[in-house]
Amino acid sequence: MVAESVVIFGNGALSSLAWYCLTHDSPWQVKAFTVDRAYLQDPVHEGLPVAPFEDLASLYPPSEVDLLIPLGYTQINGLRRERYLQAKAQGYSFISYISSRASTWPDLQIGENCLIYEHAIIQPFARIGDNVIIRSGAHISHHCEIGSHTFVAAGACFGGNVTVSEQAFVGLGAVLRDGLHLAERSFIGAGAVVVANTEADGVYVGNPARRSGRSSMEVTTGKSTG
Ligand SMILES: CC(C)(COP(=O)(O)OP(=O)(O)OC[C@H]1O[C@@H](n2cnc3c(N)ncnc32)[C@H](O)[C@@H]1OP(=O)(O)O)[C@@H](O)C(=O)NCCC(=O)NCCS
Repeated sequence: MVAESVVIFGNGALSSLAWYCLTHDSPWQVKAFTVDRAYLQDPVHEGLPVAPFEDLASLYPPSEVDLLIPLGYTQINGLRRERYLQAKAQGYSFISYISSRASTWPDLQIGENCLIYEHAIIQPFARIGDNVIIRSGAHISHHCEIGSHTFVAAGACFGGNVTVSEQAFVGLGAVLRDGLHLAERSFIGAGAVVVANTEADGVYVGNPARRSGRSSMEVTTGKSTG
């Protein structure tokens, strides 16, 4: 049975955004938020209770709620990946939110724990993995394949047949030439124009995009992301 009640992971801006969108644009009812106990400062967020993630299974068991984990790209999406896999191992199911204002087609193939925001365009024959966030106004062309645990920022533009391995990040307004491949944990900076395949863990900026000296883990650790 698919639960109609949802718990959202997080107590930051992206969690508030997800709560707002679910409340105004979905059939689900948000029951509570959950965070790691170490981050639980205020027991109430957006007027709802905040439960320690460590106690979630006893307070909101998998038989009663589904989860949504809208964390950003901290640790090149590694934190969201880890919490998603932990919750899955505890038996939770996940919803995927697709804005009623997004543009999609009947053949849409999309996994669980995904968020597709308003005015994102997902063309026919595109495929989206699990635990993927696609922010407002991004354009995912036909036959693109977006690997699990990836984050696509607002206004990014993917040409046709672009393939993306797991845990990649594509920044605000970046352009990906058709047919290319992003390796796992690639980080594409805001406004980059990518014209060649990327290497794992690389950070790419500029037009044409060039690999910088730093790793994607380095530029996404210890910062607020999203
Ligand atoms: C690439 C990025 C991670 C670098 O951030 P940072 O580590 O804080 O780096 P800084 O801002 O200190 O900039 C370092 C240098 O890189 C340059 N630079 C930074 N971001 C750049 C970008 N996107 N494109 C081109 N050059 C960039 C800066 O101009 C600076 O150059 P300088 O040393 O010659 O002065 C960051 O700018 C970026 O693009 N983040 C993605 C933002 C985004 O899309 N967010 C999505 C929100 S949902």
